[in-house]
Amino acid sequence: MDDRIVVEDLEQLSFRVDRRAYTDDAVAAAEMTKIFDRCWLYVGHESEVPELGSYVSRDVGSRPVVMSRGSDGKIRVFANSCTHRGALICSQPSGQAKSFRCPYHDWTFSNQGDLVGVPIPDGYGPSFRKADFGLAQHQSETYRGFVFVTFDPEQQRTLPEYLAGATDYLDLIDDQSEVGMEVIQGAQLHGARANWKLMMENSVDIYHFRALHKRYVSYMESLGSTPPRRRGGFGSALGLGHGANELPPAAARPLAYWTPMFGEEVRPRIEATAARFVERFGAERAERITGTNRAVLIFPNLMIIDAIAITIRKIDPVGAGQMAITSVALAPKDEDPDIRELRKSHYLTFLGPAGFATPDDIEIVESCQRGYLNRTVRYSDLSRGMNKEVPETTDELPAREFWRQWDRLMRDEESR
Ligand code: FES
Ligand code: FE
Repeated sequence: MDDRIVVEDLEQLSFRVDRRAYTDDAVAAAEMTKIFDRCWLYVGHESEVPELGSYVSRDVGSRPVVMSRGSDGKIRVFANSCTHRGALICSQPSGQAKSFRCPYHDWTFSNQGDLVGVPIPDGYGPSFRKADFGLAQHQSETYRGFVFVTFDPEQQRTLPEYLAGATDYLDLIDDQSEVGMEVIQGAQLHGARANWKLMMENSVDIYHFRALHKRYVSYMESLGSTPPRRRGGFGSALGLGHGANELPPAAARPLAYWTPMFGEEVRPRIEATAARFVERFGAERAERITGTNRAVLIFPNLMIIDAIAITIRKIDPVGAGQMAITSVALAPKDEDPDIRELRKSHYLTFLGPAGFATPDDIEIVESCQRGYLNRTVRYSDLSRGMNKEVPETTDELPAREFWRQWDRLMRDEESR
C-alpha cells in the first residue's frame, strides 16, 4: 500500500491528504523536528515591544521564548530558560523590564541577555565567567514589522527569501499606514481540540464562508453590507508553502472602504482616507490595499486575515489532536479613534473567538477531527480548482501549496 500522506495526481486533477496527517502522534512528533525546528516562525509584531525594555513572552513552535527590546533599542528573541538550571526567566506575558530575574536562585539577566547578577558568587571557581552564561539568543529577523525566529542554526534562507511571494502581502498590510501599524493591546488566547493544520486550512478557505457562517452572512445583509462574494477574486500559491486568497472589493473595510453598516457619521473620514491612498499609491494599488479582502497563509503557522479588521493568528500544535491559537488585531497607529472603535467591534464580532464566525470554525475543525476517528475513509480531498489556470477564492490552491511544502519538509526533500 502506498505510504505517502500527500497524494497528488496531476493527470486526474486529484489532491488528497491521508488523514493520518491530522491524527498520528508519530507525524505530530516528526513535525516538530522537520518543520518547527527548521522554518522561520512568526513570533510577534515589533509594535508589541514599543519602548526600550518592553518584552513579550510566548511559546513559538512549542518553545517558550521572550521577545525583548533591549535598552539599546534592538529587538532580540531569547530562549526563555535560565542558563543556570533551566527555569523560565520570564513568566509574565508582557511588560517592561531592565532585567529578568530568575525566580529559582535569583540569577539576573539584562534585557540584552547578559548575565549581570549571581548571588553568592564565591561558590564558583576561577573559570566561572558570567559572559559564558548569557541568555541563549535565537536568530530573528523582521520584515515590515513582523518578527520571525528560526531555531535552525544552519538556516539557509534570509527571512525575505523564506517569505517568497508572501512579502507582497505583508507590504499590502504594512502600507495601510504612513506611520506604521500596531497590534491593539491585548491578545485572545484560545484553542481547539483538533490538529493545528485544520485551522491553517480553514483560515484560508473561502469555500466554507456562506455555508458555515450563515448567521453572520444574514447579519451583515440585515445591516446593508455585502458579505464576501462567492465568485471572483483569486487564489495564489506564493511559494515555499505560503498562499493567499484575495476577494474583490465588496465587503466593509473600516480603513477606507465605507459601507452603510459603519454609519453616515464616519463616511467623510473614511472617504478622505481613501482619497489619500489614491494620492499615495494610484487608484489601482490603493483599491487593492484598501478594498480587497484577503487571507494570507504563511507557512507553517501564521495566518493573517485582512478583511473587516486585520487579525493575526499564530496557530501552534499541542500534540496531534489539539492546537493553541493566539489572536491579535492589527491597525494603523494613526487611526481615527471612532474608526478604531469600529475596527475593534468588527474584530470582536466576527474574527474573535467569541465572534460570529470563529466559534463556527472551531466547532467545524473539531468536528473534522472527530470524523477522522472513523478510519474507513482514508483521505481528505483538496482538489478544488486544479482544473483552472487561475483558481478562484473558493478553490483550494493555498491549502495545496501548504501541503506541498509540508510534504517536502516531512520527506526531507527540501533543505529548509
Ligand atoms: Fe535560574 Fe537557578 S535556575 S537561577
Ligand atoms: Fe470561517
